[in-house]
Amino acid sequence: MARTKITVIGAGNVGATTAQRLAEKDFADVVLVDIVEGMPQGKALDIMQSGPVYGYDSKVIGTNGYDETEGSDIIVITSGMPRKPGMSRDDLLKVNAGIVKEVTEKSVAKSPNAIIIVVSNPLDAMTYVAYKTSKFEKNRVMGMAGILDSARFRTFISMELDVSVENINAFVLGGHGDTMVPSTKYTTVAGIPVEDLIPKDRLDAIVERTRKGGGEIVSLLKTGSAYYAPSAAVVEMVESIVFDKKKILPCAALCQGEYGIDNLFVGVPVKLGKNGVEQIIEFKLSEEEHAALMKSAAAVKELCDKVDEMGF
Ligand code: LAC
Repeated sequence: MARTKITVIGAGNVGATTAQRLAEKDFADVVLVDIVEGMPQGKALDIMQSGPVYGYDSKVIGTNGYDETEGSDIIVITSGMPRKPGMSRDDLLKVNAGIVKEVTEKSVAKSPNAIIIVVSNPLDAMTYVAYKTSKFEKNRVMGMAGILDSARFRTFISMELDVSVENINAFVLGGHGDTMVPSTKYTTVAGIPVEDLIPKDRLDAIVERTRKGGGEIVSLLKTGSAYYAPSAAVVEMVESIVFDKKKILPCAALCQGEYGIDNLFVGVPVKLGKNGVEQIIEFKLSEEEHAALMKSAAAVKELCDKVDEMGF
């Protein structure tokens, strides 16, 4: 039986760490693509040579072209410039839209039946670019952000309460930017509403730190953005799809009326299975959270309008 084939485009920190995490899971072969000559090949060989020690047989191929990506089941797009200190994700819009458009065209030509997971920033707008360019059905194009933002939220809650991160269930919705909406109403610790466990002022501070969680890491690293947690989040999405687990996870999905959002990719809870986004799960947000989600969707729309104006 053929192994699952996953293409990871962009062999920078996010792409290479995603390839490494996938290889270590040992259920798929990975093709790592980048324009820099020798770099994806070198990283791919290095990851493969960890197999004998770590114990996996995943094949990892590095390439500067797309022939090797043919027939991929999943395409993960990480290409693009990362943020520099002081830059917003939106500053990256134009340059990354061009990159995402090009790599989408080239990769879907080789893998017309794949499912696309976009990681490039600004996330929601880049997912829209991949959707428009690929002309895939909406269930086969999605963006990774909500799991990452929720993981940050869960981490901070665990630090506050000194309990296992595994006990914490959280949803961060909306766009992957400063307007994201960490839902405190639906965040629980071993089933107990977090609002009953953490005083409001502390919870507000945690929400704020979550919103700025990516920027906190950018300003510490100084030369790029986060990649350990982003790659872990991609792998959770890949596993839910490949193993048809139907996990409910926050992902950027095309909303067409759900939550009152019209034709935009925004972070919402989705059911991820072998067909990609199999369902958008709608639940009743508090009035305040719904208003915040609408505000976040408006911020995403502004970027998507710019993408359209720029002709992508
Ligand atoms: C972050 C970047 C990758 O949130 O958007 O870390």
